[in-house]
Formats: sequence, structure tokens, C-alpha cells
Amino acid sequence: MWTPPEKIRHTPPPGDWPTAEEAARSRLFSPVRVGPVELRERTWVPAMVPWRASEEGDVTEPVLAWYERFAQGEPGAIVVEATGIRDVPSGPLLRIGHDRFVPGLARLVERVRAASGGRTRLLIQLIDFLRIRRRPPRDRFLERFLEITDRHREATGEVEEAAVRAALLRMDDDTLRTVLSPREWESLAMGYRERVTDTHLPHIRDLPKVLPDLFAAAARRAKDAGFDGVELHYAHAYTMASFLSPTNTRDDGYGTTLEGRLRLPLEVFRAVRAEVGDAFCVGCRFLAEECIEGGGTVEDAIVYARSFAAAGMAFLSLSRGGKFDDAKQPKVGEAAYPYTGRSGYECMPTVRSDARGPFGRAVPAARTIRAAVREAGHDTPIVVAGGICSFSQAESILARGEADIVAAARQSLADPDWFKKMRLGRGAEIRRCQYTNYCEALDQKHKAVTCQLWDRIDVEACRLRSPDGRRRLVAPPWTPAP
Ligand SMILES: Cc1cc2nc3c(=O)[nH]c(=O)nc-3n(C[C@H](O)[C@H](O)[C@H](O)COP(=O)(O)O)c2cc1C
Ligand code: SF4
Repeated sequence: MWTPPEKIRHTPPPGDWPTAEEAARSRLFSPVRVGPVELRERTWVPAMVPWRASEEGDVTEPVLAWYERFAQGEPGAIVVEATGIRDVPSGPLLRIGHDRFVPGLARLVERVRAASGGRTRLLIQLIDFLRIRRRPPRDRFLERFLEITDRHREATGEVEEAAVRAALLRMDDDTLRTVLSPREWESLAMGYRERVTDTHLPHIRDLPKVLPDLFAAAARRAKDAGFDGVELHYAHAYTMASFLSPTNTRDDGYGTTLEGRLRLPLEVFRAVRAEVGDAFCVGCRFLAEECIEGGGTVEDAIVYARSFAAAGMAFLSLSRGGKFDDAKQPKVGEAAYPYTGRSGYECMPTVRSDARGPFGRAVPAARTIRAAVREAGHDTPIVVAGGICSFSQAESILARGEADIVAAARQSLADPDWFKKMRLGRGAEIRRCQYTNYCEALDQKHKAVTCQLWDRIDVEACRLRSPDGRRRLVAPPWTPAP
């Protein structure tokens, strides 16, 4: 992952753990209304893909165990990982694109309810993503994948396709780069990646026609499975975030202007709402800042937030960065990963940072956006995440009105019981995240995500292990100190 050049090493802020009485009086452990549901406390485990679904996208025992373990910490809400809304193969990523997925998802809901004693509300993140291919070997790209055009014929002085390809193959990279279009060069150097602006492709042109129904059907399945609600994934590198981005130059009414960029996200929301009714919780996750050149800023996010709130979204969960645009070049045979560049750093910042550091890095943007939403007369709860790992940090975010709900991904992975330990006055027993992103590196390699702080502890005793048998897949149980 990209690291800020300053490379200043930060240490997690002091926990300042509360006694049980202080926790009971705190804002963090007070209830909050999120549209039609109430959370018992303002703690939230945001979506995290653990790579535990079957190749067909089904819920497996490791998926059930993963969410059961978070539920044992009894947070106010858990958001199940980004789950694909289409009925297309997508490797071991969870899917909800057909009714056959409902029984598995219903088992997941049951396990979370049982493990949390009904204290935790359960949402599922609904995602659509476009096609991305692995970086091709140079020769294969030039011999097979590249579509030969007049530009290549002119540059090589050849007419026959085979001769053009042979001439391109002989060029050094500097020359080749001037001959290929920027997009062709990107397909060679990074792997081909579809964009929402590829409106010459019928399936991309038709996204506004198909996505509202796909999201609506997926939300209906989530409701049938017993979830409390859905989080529409409008963040990071995926389709809906790309519609919102200023880089969306579509000229069909679904891009270019702020209104145009917002149109599909609002249409999707309305279709979902119409399908599931008002008693089901529907919110979204979107970017407070894209953190790429020419990308969306807090000013854009204010407009989105106000529009989503006015449309009736139950919550607005904010994230930052996580884009393909500045991803590192993958190795040949591997696909680009959207969390490897600067924007990736902003999404999951590590302890090696700039002067600002990784802890609560997204809070200033959240504060600005929340204030603008309140100014517009909406009381929609705002969820913030990013390096939040201590009681005083969480409590002061709420006290200062910077957000309404505090989300922690990596700290919850490091210690799924951490919210419960805080609530019970057992903060001293919390296993604290080191923010060095061992977990994220596993995610990048599409390997089962675990935490370095517990995955080698008592491995033999754990029923569920990584394929090589060397890592446990579930955090060890918490035995409270006497
Ligand atoms: C392994 C891993 C997988 C993630 N998967 C998702 C995801 O599916 N959807 C999403 O919106 N964010 C995802 N995230 C981002 C987190 O939800 C969160 O925004 C980010 O880690 C920053 O919060 P933190 O500092 O509390 O970890 C993932 C993060 C990690 C570490
Ligand atoms: S591996 Fe564990 S300690 Fe390291 S960043 Fe991830 S959750 Fe935190």
C-alpha cells in the first residue's frame, strides 16, 4: 500500500476505557434511531469482505462463524460485507442476486440474532461492480487482445493486421506508449477495466435501466432473509460511486452535472424503497472525499448527503478514497486492487502516516457534512469510520456532533468483543489493533482475512482454519479475567 512520504510512526491513542457506570451514562452506549429501527448503542461494525463465501457466492460455515463472532461483541449494528446483486459468478464473494441465496442468508441472520442475544441490528451491503481483467502479458495483449485501428496502421506503416501486431511487438515501451491510446496503454499496463463512461458498450449504456431493479430485487431478498436493512454501496471503486464521481462524463442525463451524477443513485434508492416499504431500513455508504485527482470533494459530498437525506435515506455512512484511479500497477496475471494508492491509504490508513495520522482521519469531513445536513433540516444519522479505536475518541466525536454513530472495522477485527468489553468496564482486556494492515494485505491477495494478533493463537483448538491449516479463521473466545 502507498504510504505518505513523511512516514511518521503514530501510536494508537490511549484507550481511556470507562467503568461500567461511565459507559452506561455515555453517548456511545446510548440508543439511536436509524429510520425504522433503533440501535441499542451507537457502535457499528462496517462492511468487511473476509473471503469466506463459496465459489458460487453462498453463505458457508466460515461466513456464519465470522459474523457470529462479531455478534458476540454485541455492537449496535453489523453491516455484512459487500454482496453482489447480480446472478453472475464472482469468486468467493457473497451474492444476493437470486432467490436461491435467501436460505443461506437467513441462516446468517439467525446466527447473529442468537449470538448477540438480539442486541445487534443486522444490515447487508449491496454492491454492483464492473468488469476488471488481470494485467496481461505484453505479447499476449499485442498479439490477441488489442483491437487494431487505423492509428496503429499509421504508426507502424503496415496494413495487414498480423504485420501491425508484429511491428508493435518490436517497439520499446516508450515508443509503444505514444502509439497506443491512453486507454489501450492502461489496459496493457494495468489490465482492462470497464468504466461507467463506456457508453458505446450496450450493457454500460443500459446501467441506469437495469440497476434500479437489480438493487430492488436484492433488497427484497435481504428483507425476506430477515435482515433489518440494507446499505447501498455507493462508495469506493464500484459502479454507483463511479456515477457520483466528477469523473463521470456521461452525456445521457446520468453524468456530467451534479444533478446528472446523482440521478441514478436516487433512482436506485427510490426503486429499493418502493420494493421493501418504509418499515425496512435503507441507507447508503458513500465517499466524503474521493481523494484522487479531479475526484469528488467534501463540497460534492455535501450535495449528495443533503439529497440522500431529503430522499429519505435512513442513514448516511461515510468513507474516503479506495479508488482504482491511483491503484498501483499489478503484477502480470494479477488484477489491480483499489486500495494500493493514495486513495487506498485514505480509506484504510496505517500507523505510518503524515502529521495528521490515521486516527479519526475521516472525522473532519464527517463533521462538515453532518453540519450541512443538519443545516438543511434533516436529522439523518451520520456514520463515521477510520482509525477509531478508543473510548474517549468515540465519545468526543459524538459529544462534538461530528457523527451520530461510530464505526470500527479493523479494531473490531482485532477484538470482536471490544465494544462489549468497553460497556462492561473491561476496557483493560481489549486487544488493540496495530493498524499495520496485515488483514488488508490478505484481502488484497483474496485470501481469508484474519488478524495478526490472534490468527496463530491456539490454532489446533480452532475448528475453522485457513486452507494451509496455519491460521485460525475465528478470533479466540474471550474469557473474562477474574
Ligand atoms: C479486510 C477489509 C475488507 C473491507 N471490505 C469492505 C467492504 O466490503 N465494503 C466497504 O464499504 N468497506 C470495506 N472495508 C473498509 C472498512 O469498512 C472501513 O471503512 C475501513 O477499514 C476504515 O475503518 P477502520 O479504520 O475502522 O478499519 C474493508 C476493510 C478491510 C480492512
Ligand atoms: S491485522 Fe489486526 S492488528 Fe493488524 S491492522 Fe488488521 S485488524 Fe489491526
